[in-house]
Amino acid sequence: MKFFLDTAIVDEVAQMVDTGLVDGVTTNPSLIAKTGADMRDTIAQMCALVDGPVSAEVTATDWQEMVREGVSLRTIADNVCVKVPLTMEGLRATHALTQAGHPVNVTLCFSANQALLAAKAGASFVSPFIGRLDDIGLDGMELISDIRLIYDNYPELETEILAASIRSTGHMREAALIGADVATLPVKVMQDMAKHPLTSSGLEKFLADWQATGQQILKDA
Ligand code: E4P
Repeated sequence: MKFFLDTAIVDEVAQMVDTGLVDGVTTNPSLIAKTGADMRDTIAQMCALVDGPVSAEVTATDWQEMVREGVSLRTIADNVCVKVPLTMEGLRATHALTQAGHPVNVTLCFSANQALLAAKAGASFVSPFIGRLDDIGLDGMELISDIRLIYDNYPELETEILAASIRSTGHMREAALIGADVATLPVKVMQDMAKHPLTSSGLEKFLADWQATGQQILKDA
């Protein structure tokens, strides 16, 4: 399973990249707006930090303009992945961009049928939004499960399921159990995944017992 960081904050990527846990990054216009930074600079800096795909979202609504924006975003770095909304115009743009060799992440996916269309259009990734479905009383994880089943029925569909809008470690566990190919997660969720109260209390006891021995592992310290 690949892990992408869901952020437009370059420092967060820089802080996490040497953990070896970060396979890529996803941004969106709202995340970029929150930072107040220049979008193209942000994407360029992130692309230099990670080897994997960095999703940069188009903001046009007609497909030809989306393609123009996507091609322009792809000049920033080789690992830019063009993010396109799941509309009929977005699907046309996805087809045109992928035909021209540009990877596309189709975003704002809220139904299995939408995911099927994204795959047919040739998307590299489809991004079903788990948290936003949960927010309106639906079951976001059921969508991931449905898409997994549908894609597995048709091996010719090569689109990867990118579980997005992840809000908790519970979301991560369930997305992994279902078999999402990728999850994009906020840095806090990635850090929370490493935590367990028994790990903390166990470590505290090990360290106290070790200190009582008076020993040191590094003899020259
Ligand atoms: C990532 O590609 C999405 O834009 C992001 O996960 C959306 O998350 P949110 O629903 O928490 O805004």
